Amino acid sequence: MDEKVLLQVENLRKYFPVKGVKGPGVQAVENVSFEIKKGETLGLVGESGCGKTTLGRTILRLHEPTSGRIIYDGKVIFDSGDNQVFDKNGKPLSKKSKKVAVDMLPYRRKMQIIFQDPSASLDPRMTVGEIIGEAIDIHKLASTKTERAAMIKSLLSSVGLNTEHANRFPHEFSGGQQQRVGIARALAVKPEFIVCDEPISALDVSIQSQIVNMLEDMQNDLGLTYLFIAHDLSVVRHISNRIGVMYLGSLVELGESYELNKHPIHPYTKTLLSAVPVPDPDISRARKRIVLEGDIPSPMNPPTGCRFHTRCPYAKPECKESAPILKEYDKGHWAACHLLG
Ligand SMILES: Nc1ncnc2c1ncn2[C@@H]1O[C@H](COP(=O)(O)OP(=O)(O)OP(=O)(O)O)[C@@H](O)[C@H]1O
Ligand code: SF4
Ligand SMILES: [Mg+2]
Repeated sequence: MDEKVLLQVENLRKYFPVKGVKGPGVQAVENVSFEIKKGETLGLVGESGCGKTTLGRTILRLHEPTSGRIIYDGKVIFDSGDNQVFDKNGKPLSKKSKKVAVDMLPYRRKMQIIFQDPSASLDPRMTVGEIIGEAIDIHKLASTKTERAAMIKSLLSSVGLNTEHANRFPHEFSGGQQQRVGIARALAVKPEFIVCDEPISALDVSIQSQIVNMLEDMQNDLGLTYLFIAHDLSVVRHISNRIGVMYLGSLVELGESYELNKHPIHPYTKTLLSAVPVPDPDISRARKRIVLEGDIPSPMNPPTGCRFHTRCPYAKPECKESAPILKEYDKGHWAACHLLG
């Protein structure tokens, strides 16, 4: 892994306005900041509806951000124009940033996504060859028909499919094979960064590790950088260098995978970890499962202050009043919680 930062996300928000309802609407992503180094895998976990897919899509500007800034490979690709500017030493300057929204076409090649639901993400009327070929055509990556056909064949074999599969339609494949097609489509344009949006959760357990291994091999061979989204920590802990934990649109903890699993510091991460099965029966017996009370609140009307306060066993009056800021408590280990000072 390189030390160079490939992606910086600063104070990113994505709200979906709701027709006929006053106010900001669905506050799906709330003030999220993090960076990903070149060649790194950042795992992103959290309960269903906490905003993982929305965050992934907003980074790629498949959803236009509501506010914040996105910097890819040193270039600002989006800036809502009211962000804090820092000097070379990280000191905040009094001026605010300028509005930027670049044409994404060149970045669409570099920044790809593997979708959560493989069957829904493949056009049923197109053959697999056409699906992969379309990506090659949009970015004009083949100069002749022969070259294009050879690229499709090579992509199919690199994801473990037969070259004659190019003439088949998506419904003729199993879920695992459809996901391989989705991966081949993403790889067709020679990307640098891929949002892997729960690439294995719709698949049979027996197929899941094959796909994960394949993604890991590709990362090593091609130097790819991943944002790897999953529901639970057990899926991402082995493949991620670092892990981010989301709750109701906010990033509540961020740290090295081993450190975050061994020494979680945010109350919500502790809850998530208490639900992960441990193979050692002694550790498993000693570890108390924490069950959260109440349902996850609606992002249409999120709790004030810390969004977790309605379910947090440690909540204090201050937690209702002000939202905690993500701070670094140990080297590279960040959390947002008033308990931590
Ligand atoms: N296009 C949209 N319009 C309005 N609301 C949306 C839209 N997309 C997502 N949302 C809402 O934003 C919130 C976050 O959804 P999102 O799909 O990002 O969650 P998720 O963490 O990916 O969930 P899951 O684990 O189930 O995939 C949800 O409340 C969802 O209903
Ligand atoms: S800020 Fe308060 S409510 Fe939020 S996680 Fe920390 S203790 Fe719990
Ligand atoms: Mg999702």
